[in-house]
Amino acid sequence: MSTIDSVLKENRLFPPSEDFRVKANVSGMEGYNALCEQANNDYEGFWADLGRELVSWKQPFTKVLNSTEAPFYKWFEDGTLNVSYNCLDRHLAGSGDKPAIIFEADDGTSTPVTYRELHQRVCQFANGLRSLGVKKGDRVVVYMPMGVEAVVAMQACARIGAIHSVVFGGFSAKSLQERIGDARASLVITANEGLRGGKSVPLQAVVDDALALGGCESIQHIVVFQRTQTAPAQWDARNVWWHELTAQQPTECEPEWMNAEDPLFILYTSGSTGKPKGIQHSSGGYLLGTLVTMKWVFDYKPDDVFWCTADVGWITGHSYVCYGPLAIGATQVVFEGIPTYPDANRFWSMIARHKVTTFYTAPTAIRSLIKLGADLPGQHDLSSLRLLGTVGEPINPEAWIWYHEVVGGGRCPIVDTWWQTETGAHMIAPLPGAVATKPGSCTLPLPGILADIVDESGAPVEPGKGGALVIKKPWPSMVRTIWGDPDRFKKTYFPEEFNGQLYLAGDSAHTDENGYIWIMGRIDDVLNVSGHRLGTMEIESALVANPLVAEAAVVGRPHEIKGEAVVAFVVLKQNRPEGEDAKRIARELREWVAHEIGKIAQPDEIRFGENLPKTRSGKIMRRLLRVIAKGEEITQDVSTLENPAILEQLRVSAL
Ligand code: PRX
Repeated sequence: MSTIDSVLKENRLFPPSEDFRVKANVSGMEGYNALCEQANNDYEGFWADLGRELVSWKQPFTKVLNSTEAPFYKWFEDGTLNVSYNCLDRHLAGSGDKPAIIFEADDGTSTPVTYRELHQRVCQFANGLRSLGVKKGDRVVVYMPMGVEAVVAMQACARIGAIHSVVFGGFSAKSLQERIGDARASLVITANEGLRGGKSVPLQAVVDDALALGGCESIQHIVVFQRTQTAPAQWDARNVWWHELTAQQPTECEPEWMNAEDPLFILYTSGSTGKPKGIQHSSGGYLLGTLVTMKWVFDYKPDDVFWCTADVGWITGHSYVCYGPLAIGATQVVFEGIPTYPDANRFWSMIARHKVTTFYTAPTAIRSLIKLGADLPGQHDLSSLRLLGTVGEPINPEAWIWYHEVVGGGRCPIVDTWWQTETGAHMIAPLPGAVATKPGSCTLPLPGILADIVDESGAPVEPGKGGALVIKKPWPSMVRTIWGDPDRFKKTYFPEEFNGQLYLAGDSAHTDENGYIWIMGRIDDVLNVSGHRLGTMEIESALVANPLVAEAAVVGRPHEIKGEAVVAFVVLKQNRPEGEDAKRIARELREWVAHEIGKIAQPDEIRFGENLPKTRSGKIMRRLLRVIAKGEEITQDVSTLENPAILEQLRVSAL
């Protein structure tokens, strides 16, 4: 993979400027080392101090970490709090008139929402949910476009102790139905439509389709936010308009005081096998994770204008749109649209107009914007920026350097943040006023995060050698379990091979001579397409569910913009198609996958064969498929292959 080749050669070092260092929340390596030392000397005391400093508790905790039922760890278990209180109420006295959100709509209009207004809207909506019978512990699915209401919906759930499960608006009816069914949700919050790039996105219609698929009998109400004037095609007795639900509600709402360990949300993510997993997060530990990383990694300052471009449908949008920035009292930009509408200036023009100081986006967005206009940022005044961040996938050094020079004017540190849906908050990332950065490396673990790279036996590997990335001690914002499947949680993340002692991240990595960590990619069958996690198995199951398909295997191949592209090898029940026929079926299968999972999972390439390369015992040889997908010559031993002729057929058939 070209990215990895260039990463291996990369050793330029970018220390923070003196100016940045002296003003930083954690200043210099002395500052970083002092925190690490505190964590090493008294791990629980370290986290307890942060928990007391950063979180407002109703009932302060006296216990810190409980490992008696490991790996089902508990943090701050006798403390009580409310996350929405922490994100809103506690800022009212000092910063009630400060903008919490600057919302920029798809059409470019922007609206500030102060902390006081946001608090009122959350309270009204929370009261509305209560009036529909939603109570602590109930699951609420949020299928919303990006916007203030998505944040209000999540915060309102947190306020009344309902567990939200946000489903990204690009997922299909089938994916939505599976998630509603798995969580046995009682209510869905959606919008009639979303608006992205000048086009409307059906949302309520997809909810209707999802419910019509069956298995969602737990749903009692569907609350619909009216984003556009388009009338819904269907409206039944369970539907309630958002504006009607909230119109008469009081603007105060007593929060539900939650135990620190009470679940705050579930977020489904892909694994290597089976259905997407409902990653369950806690209230107290999760909130602390988002707060401490806002402070350390984003070096939060009260006059910052923070902008994380992620959708709330992903963990990044949970931790760094909905929770972290509000919990710390920041002003943040929330953007409804896409980076290329009305043209590729959008991000740069928004940074200039809103005087964004801290900008956090994905490498895939950076790469596509370079392609669409590497000189466009230069046409805008980006001097407000002081810090840049990336997340979701490794960034290639070329894109890093462009981001640094052209967007950041050479003066803004770049925080390359490694973390996962399961970790809740950043885990490995430079503290920007302390750790010198290297393009392509997420650098060093945060203080209190004990990351390591180990071999199959769990023993640490030497610098330069690849291995599995693990975390050696539990941390407050970690996943608590997989919703409804504790066994799978244990097996997936705390496997027997490591005596159940190490958290297995599922990534491979190596360290360099400075102890810097370089993420090499997943060790399992999970793809990372444009920073989105997709299970190869999920796409394969979707393909074989099509009546035409007998068998399918899906692999990833490096892609210049998306990081990885999806390549599907397909065997049809009928003869192997050719010419126009093959093109038509490939098109149909792509649409099918969009329909089954969502557009993000559509194969970039489909190759038809009469069969798949298999060993004599019938196992599909995926490593050969990966080589074919890359368009490389097969140099490996194929002697164990049952049907070598099939390789040539697959090699020439890309569509
Ligand atoms: O493979 C790693 C990659 O994204 C995976 C986690 O995906 P998800 O749970 O969807 O969360 C993405 C946003 C936090 C990881 O296992 N990944 C995430 N951040 C980085 C990364 N790979 C390299 N560098 C990163 N900074």
